[in-house]
Amino acid sequence: MEYFPLVLVGFGNVGKALAQLLLDKKEEINSRYAVDYAVTGIFTGSHGAVVDVTGIDVQKALNAERLEDIQGVKPAGSIDEFIALSGARVLFESIPVNYQDGQPAVDILSQALKKGLHAISANKGPVVHAFDELNALAEAGRVRYFFESAVMDGAPVFGVFRETLPGLNLLSFEGVLNSTTNVILTRMERGDSFDDAVRYTQQIGLAESDPSGDIDGWDAAVKVAALCMVLMGVKLTPQQVLRKGIRSISGDDIRRARSEGKRWKLVCRAQKLGQTVSAVVKPEMVPPTSPFFSVEDSTSIVCFRTDILEELCLVEGNPGPRTTAYGMMADFLNAVR
Ligand SMILES: NC(=O)c1ccc[n+]([C@@H]2O[C@H](COP(=O)([O-])OP(=O)(O)OC[C@H]3O[C@@H](n4cnc5c(N)ncnc54)[C@H](OP(=O)(O)O)[C@@H]3O)[C@@H](O)[C@H]2O)c1
Repeated sequence: MEYFPLVLVGFGNVGKALAQLLLDKKEEINSRYAVDYAVTGIFTGSHGAVVDVTGIDVQKALNAERLEDIQGVKPAGSIDEFIALSGARVLFESIPVNYQDGQPAVDILSQALKKGLHAISANKGPVVHAFDELNALAEAGRVRYFFESAVMDGAPVFGVFRETLPGLNLLSFEGVLNSTTNVILTRMERGDSFDDAVRYTQQIGLAESDPSGDIDGWDAAVKVAALCMVLMGVKLTPQQVLRKGIRSISGDDIRRARSEGKRWKLVCRAQKLGQTVSAVVKPEMVPPTSPFFSVEDSTSIVCFRTDILEELCLVEGNPGPRTTAYGMMADFLNAVR
């Protein structure tokens, strides 16, 4: 049995779901993969940090208000010092996305990779802003930088190309990649006003208190940029994606679509044109013949067109923090097996 001390940087919705999943799956992973692990460090933005090289009591950490209340060393310094103290071999990062430059997650992942840890991230920012640099660090250190959960949570949009589809060229893709806007549009079809639907997504913990990242299409744009970077090899910033959100969709628009037998979806599209990509995120009325028509609530979908497989679609039904956590756990197992 090979043993891996793990650290979690970010202990919010995703970090906590990952901690719970690691607890739930421990015995199964021990016996199926001969892989054992313990969480030896947790680091947050404003809720403290804790290190215990003998293994943190994760259940207590999940129940604690602040990490100061958990037994272990309380590192007061930088992420660097935290990683060194923890003795970890794998770092999981799930801190908020920064659309502009991917920081501070880029620095956190860089530190981990330089110190010889596998870096597993749920964050789109570093993929878009530092994919080449992080990969180079991973290669140099003979470790992995994986980020499956950054787009479509637990669905293997990156892994399927990396592991099982060698030699394919991705020509274009389209999808519904933002859950919050899809829930809002679905709720509006059921009679909610735009504002009520937004409030609902905040109540269920899907949208942030400032939901503009979702509503104005930034989250979808950064996902498109991440897919273009990794699967097409074309560097694109979210700012370069032509972007229109769903703010202007009214109840009348929803009813008009319904009367024509269509539905509004925030559709993402990207097409490779030589060494560049044309990418757009905008609301579209889709007909029943579209694979997006039946994708409702928080379900997401992406359809790839390649030089060999004409259409390959992945659908993820109602994802949430636990499916995101699963993507990270799968990255971990794929990195160490
Ligand atoms: N929620 C999902 O289902 C989902 C799905 C796919 C991808 N993601 C991605 O996963 C990441 C986390 O999402 P989430 O919903 O878990 O966010 P969240 O609930 O807001 O949690 C973020 C965590 O990061 C910590 N943090 C903030 N700044 C930090 C810093 N500079 N250094 C260390 N820790 C820091 C926060 O600590 P404090 O609370 O103490 O500030 C908190 O523990 C995001 O990048 C998101 O885009 C999320």
